[in-house]
Amino acid sequence: MKHSSDTNLFVLLVVMLMVAMSGCILRPHGPMDFAGGTRVVLADYQGSDPTGTPPGVAGADLVARGEYLARAADCIGCHTTSRGKPFAGGQAFKLPVGTLYSTNITPDKETGIGEWTDDEFVKAMHEGIDRNGTRLYPAFPYSAYTLLTRNDVLAIKAYLFSLKPVHDRPPENDMSFPFNQRYLMWFWNVLYNPAQRFQPNIDRAPAWNRGAYVVEALGHCGECHTPRTLLQGLDAGKKFGGTMIDGWKAYNMTPDRQSGIGAWSDDELAEYLSSGHADGRSTAAGPMGLVLNNSLRFLTRDDIQAMVAYLRTAPPIHDKTDLAIAQKRPSTTPSGVRTRSPHRLAGNDEDLGLRVFEGACASCHDWDGSGAQSPYAALIGNRTVNDPTGINLTQVILHGASLQSQQGDMFMPAFGTRYSDAEIAAVVNYVTGRFGASASTVTPDQVAKRRKEK
Ligand code: HEC
Ligand code: HEC
Ligand code: HEC
Repeated sequence: MKHSSDTNLFVLLVVMLMVAMSGCILRPHGPMDFAGGTRVVLADYQGSDPTGTPPGVAGADLVARGEYLARAADCIGCHTTSRGKPFAGGQAFKLPVGTLYSTNITPDKETGIGEWTDDEFVKAMHEGIDRNGTRLYPAFPYSAYTLLTRNDVLAIKAYLFSLKPVHDRPPENDMSFPFNQRYLMWFWNVLYNPAQRFQPNIDRAPAWNRGAYVVEALGHCGECHTPRTLLQGLDAGKKFGGTMIDGWKAYNMTPDRQSGIGAWSDDELAEYLSSGHADGRSTAAGPMGLVLNNSLRFLTRDDIQAMVAYLRTAPPIHDKTDLAIAQKRPSTTPSGVRTRSPHRLAGNDEDLGLRVFEGACASCHDWDGSGAQSPYAALIGNRTVNDPTGINLTQVILHGASLQSQQGDMFMPAFGTRYSDAEIAAVVNYVTGRFGASASTVTPDQVAKRRKEK
């Protein structure tokens, strides 16, 4: 490899870190700083304890409490491959600087964490340092879990240790120099790991404080919804402003009425967060569908409502390029429908889009987007069909979607192997034109690139 350019990169990185540190080190950078008010350590807080498990679960034994917390923190989502055993690790994280694999966190003594003491486990969760003293990469969201109380971390450990050990070693990491130098994470931690337990805000309601704990310490929602800085830390100034994750857009979820979810009612947001769907607003797919399936659907109603109370207070972020969501319900017939796309690119052929929709989509989504099959398939008012980039729409057509909910299991098949790039581009542009604010101009080349992403 070109070693000198790697060395230059290394020097550049260190210099950048120094500069960044001199500017940031004195600035508070906790995830709840935006809210102002006075925060106190948990022991001095007079209100009801915002940490731990909700009342129904609180009386249960340690393992049951740990299970609730592990679900709220979605450990399974990253520590399981699509074909592997739960918590056995091996899931690949493709970073710009190489590939990292999640570890086996079952209690297997050799390949898992069976030999870890309480203190070792707490250190990994709070400081991102493993039992050999090695620094862990922040793809493991310990900068969120650092807010968890020691009791909650140990409840999670008790739950993991109650599982059957799985003997399975994840593949070796493949990270390029200098990013394979784990000690560099020391700098990163100074900048981006608050390394502090959750501190309740005495100027906010108890529900807000509980919501902050569930969203920040457990749910680590910002890991996907907050844009990152050059050094891959969460950009506090753009909190929840929306960003790309695994080729999907994790939408802006600030209270901005146009770019975010400010127009949603509290009930709609609670409905979405517990069931993955809110009528006239959205249905969760892709990475968010997994968050619903693995995590959010298990939370109590009170915890969901607490999250809503907290999310409502984030500073709104407006992006001028976002269009207002159209609550459009076209006619129930295919006739007379034409997208008015400015470019007539190959694969942007209206008739082709209409034909694919007729053959592949209309039976479940209906011509008026009302969702013939179930309200989950309603497209009206949905961000994905209103997004002129067509990104998540392309993904959901390529990969399909599934949700496990109290209303039963929802399923949309993947069309990636059945349709060509041109056909998929055409149906994306047709659907955004028919149901959204403005037709997208996705090209077959863009679809081809999306296919290669994962
Ligand atoms: C967003 C993905 C993600 C989530 C969520 C996640 N982890 Fe991890 N975790 C990782 C990755 C990736 C690594 C490997 C980091 C490295 O090698 O530097 C890791 C490493 C670890 C380690 C270190 C193990 C070792 O052998 O060094 C522990 C312990 C751990 N995770 C526990 C948990 C627990 C408990 C939860 C839930 C509370 C959790 N993780 C949630 C991605 C995740
Ligand atoms: C693994 C990444 C990831 C995590 C973690 C995550 N989200 Fe999402 N979220 C997404 C993606 C991607 C979408 C877009 C989903 C789609 O197209 O259906 C989304 C969509 C949403 C939406 C719908 C926005 C809209 O306009 O339709 C809300 C609300 C939301 N997420 C809230 C949350 C909350 C609250 C949490 C924490 C509990 C969270 N998300 C955690 C990736 C994530
Ligand atoms: C077998 C029924 C079925 C077919 C066929 C089908 N869908 Fe879906 N679709 C669903 C269901 C059910 C959901 C909600 C499930 C979910 O999101 O997990 C959904 C979700 C969606 C969403 C919302 C995703 C989001 O991120 O907000 C869009 C957009 C969509 N489908 C478009 C299409 C298009 C375009 C086609 C044709 C290429 C199609 N669907 C074919 C059943 C179907």
